[in-house]
Amino acid sequence: MANLWVRKPLSQLLAQAGDSEKGLKRTLGAWNLVALGIGAIIGAGLFVRTAAAAAEAAGPSVTLSFVVAAIGCAFAGLCYAEFAAMIPIAGSAYTYAYATMGEVVAWIIGWALIMEYALGAATVSIAWSEYLNKLLGGAIPYEWCHSPMEGGIMNAPALIILLALTLVLIKGTQESAFINAIIVAIKVSIVLIFIAVGWSYVNPENHVPYMIPEGTPGHEGMFKHGWGGVLGGAAIVFFAFIGFDAVSTAAQEAKKPERDMPIGILGSLAVCTILYILFSHVLTGVANWQEFKTSGKEASVAYAIQNHMPGYEWLATAVTVAILAGFSSVILVMLLGQSRVFYSMANDGLIPKVFAELHPKFRTPYKSNWILFIFVGAFAAFVPGSMAGDLTSFGTLLAFVLVSLGVLFMRKSNPEQARPFKTPLVPLVPILGALICTGMIIAIDPFTLKTAMVWMVVGLVVYFGYSRKHSKLQS
Ligand code: ALA
Repeated sequence: MANLWVRKPLSQLLAQAGDSEKGLKRTLGAWNLVALGIGAIIGAGLFVRTAAAAAEAAGPSVTLSFVVAAIGCAFAGLCYAEFAAMIPIAGSAYTYAYATMGEVVAWIIGWALIMEYALGAATVSIAWSEYLNKLLGGAIPYEWCHSPMEGGIMNAPALIILLALTLVLIKGTQESAFINAIIVAIKVSIVLIFIAVGWSYVNPENHVPYMIPEGTPGHEGMFKHGWGGVLGGAAIVFFAFIGFDAVSTAAQEAKKPERDMPIGILGSLAVCTILYILFSHVLTGVANWQEFKTSGKEASVAYAIQNHMPGYEWLATAVTVAILAGFSSVILVMLLGQSRVFYSMANDGLIPKVFAELHPKFRTPYKSNWILFIFVGAFAAFVPGSMAGDLTSFGTLLAFVLVSLGVLFMRKSNPEQARPFKTPLVPLVPILGALICTGMIIAIDPFTLKTAMVWMVVGLVVYFGYSRKHSKLQS
């Protein structure tokens, strides 16, 4: 009888990490890791959801929504940092759960991470296709950039960007990190230029009142005005922070993981939080938040520039280019993260071995990258983007909750183990991290939650039908 709760001994994990001769190459330094984090973080969340959160829930206080979401992420991030420095091997939350809470929990988290990374990549590739079409002035025929469920044939641009990035990934992690670094430089520059130039166009009257007053028509719900609105806004902009945890999936490729993992995770989170607060302050100062309900609803940043910053039309185009670049790096890091989670799961025998086979020359899990391309590509080409977005948040939040709890388990089970980075204020920080993220899961709409449950049930069927029998720890 197989033991569902079997845990992977820490010593075995660490031996695996040291055995880098035949495994993934250790090529990433601290700055690569910070850039990897920023690459995955700044994307649709900032450029699309900031205006949506202001219009729907928070008004100008969307800045505070970013602060709230960042606090939730920071607690989880501190827990990720402890694990990533201590168990520097690929697989992230999946690996940590295997060491602390047992195989079945690890499986559940690995399955949830597919929602975060694979569906996340699909969602953002669909958004990429929309913006490309916008940049080209709508030149792509409707049926070739929409899924059959929206009356199209297939979303070809989404498929093409996925293919291009899959090829980059197969070529090597260092190459991927290099391309990611260039993209990060472009998108961060544009964000900084927007903040710097926009600052002098901020009209202080647009920030008064700072929160949406009670009684504003259309804002009757508890999470649509005042402090409640700040929280409602936080749930919307949470998506903008997804990705900092992806840094931990590359732990096996970090040169000095015990030092650089915490820097990569917490550094990228800190940089993005500051940029987000400044960006949202300027955006809601340049245009009035009410405009984002109507004419400024789509491409809100370009709208604000075109309508309120005369002479800066070029910046509107530059923002669109930065958005395209930004989306590409988000997709790149999501695909990288997913293939590294699969790599670990396959090494443990929970999914077929093919996911762990490395390219003889590039030493990247190329077969896994191809299978992933087919899976993610099918979603991107044939499913509408709206379906995948909230599932991405669900998968991420579930991982955050389990990683936070995992720190508590690990402190009990392996108190003596060296911890190059320690989560501060244990048990407070992990408990708050788990509570805040559980709160955000509850706030996700019921339809998404039901779909996620179906996905998790399918996962358990696979576990009991295949993984449990093939698990290396069970044999
Ligand atoms: N944080 C990433 C984005 O905003 C997922 O696109």
